[in-house]
Amino acid sequence: MNAPVSPHLANQRDAFWMPFTPMRSFQREPMLFDRAEGMHYITPEGHRVLDGMAGLWCVNAGHGQPRVVEAIREAAGRLDFVSSFKMSHPAAQAYATRLCDFAPEGIDHVFFVNSGSEAVDTALKIARAYHHARGDAGRTKLIGRAKGYHGMGFGGLSVAGIGRHKIGFGPLLPDTAHLPLPYDRATMAFSQGQPEAGAGIVDGLEALLLVHDPATIAAVIVEPVTGSGGVYPPPRGYLERLRAFCDKHGILLIFDEVITGFGRLGTPFAAQAYGVTPDLMSCAKGMTNGAVPMGGVLVAGHVFDAFMNGPPEAIELFHGYTYSAHPLACAAGLAMLDVFAEDNLLGHLGSLLPFWESRAHALKGHPHVLDIRTAGLLCAIDLDPRAGAAGARGSACARLCHESDVLVRSSGDTIVLSPPLIISPEEIETIFASIEMALSRID
Ligand SMILES: Cc1ncc(COP(=O)(O)O)c(C=O)c1O
Repeated sequence: MNAPVSPHLANQRDAFWMPFTPMRSFQREPMLFDRAEGMHYITPEGHRVLDGMAGLWCVNAGHGQPRVVEAIREAAGRLDFVSSFKMSHPAAQAYATRLCDFAPEGIDHVFFVNSGSEAVDTALKIARAYHHARGDAGRTKLIGRAKGYHGMGFGGLSVAGIGRHKIGFGPLLPDTAHLPLPYDRATMAFSQGQPEAGAGIVDGLEALLLVHDPATIAAVIVEPVTGSGGVYPPPRGYLERLRAFCDKHGILLIFDEVITGFGRLGTPFAAQAYGVTPDLMSCAKGMTNGAVPMGGVLVAGHVFDAFMNGPPEAIELFHGYTYSAHPLACAAGLAMLDVFAEDNLLGHLGSLLPFWESRAHALKGHPHVLDIRTAGLLCAIDLDPRAGAAGARGSACARLCHESDVLVRSSGDTIVLSPPLIISPEEIETIFASIEMALSRID
């Protein structure tokens, strides 16, 4: 039985200050989920809600994945905690090796952290420290991109490209700049997968980076597909050009694969889907199926090697977290790799993607729809904002979907979808039918 709550807190419902949540609206209309299984959340009243977001882009193998749950149970009973500072445990070693095998060729090392935000800040620090270790300490500039989301640490926020997230937090990192989003609705709307157009934006890239003097740039960080900012797949040739530019000027390329990693595009990482390998990759979310917090920075061999100089007893990187490579997280991560290897998640997804894409794009022509973008099992539907009430139409649409027991996410007036990869064609139909219903009812 729960211990009684102190009288002065008994009627207080806002003790939990929630992330990215309008606290006072939530008090009036709380959305609570008590359990989850497979494709569904279950409310305290026993109501089943179809999860169109894989939690928060993370429950890629579906809720309560039995291997993952069992691995966590077993790990909790065996080794609750061990530091990773100058010691380790077998699951961390095994997971690191298998994860690098899952990653693109050339990525041979992983630095474990506990979230996407920590992964991004760690990747940015490794990038600067890499140049420092090579005697090129003047390379400190970090280049992000408009609409990029890289978590909530000061580093990630500095390279991110969503202005409203920065308001009120004072000066961020100096020495940052941002590329434009490679998107132009006039020429790219309703493209399926990678837009064919957009060459003009790609051609402008080198000129823009040259403004910042490439010899001072440590790294460029991009999400291969912009995720939280509204699902923008890269135009054809864009990532290749970015890679070539970075190579030409000695700049490290970081892919933030926190959303695109672990199968979301039908391959282990976006790097494999697009055939472009970065020097560093941040990941999190689907790593443990969202069941235990974990993140990682996947590191190319040549970056790691640059640190392995100096006396062997000296610490090469003064960085890390108490919970880096936590035993429960490593167990969940290993189980997820088993799921990918043995349950044919990617094969299943590959067979579904044509239907996902065509069903999504069938919403073209519905009221309020300005653009639809798809990349792997991701989708964004831009709605025309109501005059003077930006975001109202998006949240009205998401609310109506929820009333029909389908959970979708609204980001301003964009509806975003990222369901678990185990989704069936019938469940895809349910999600889009629910959005169609909502679109026909909102004004
Ligand atoms: C691309 C990207 N990077 C970083 C993050 C931050 O991850 P976390 O919320 O685990 O800190 C996110 C979260 O959505 C993300 O989408």
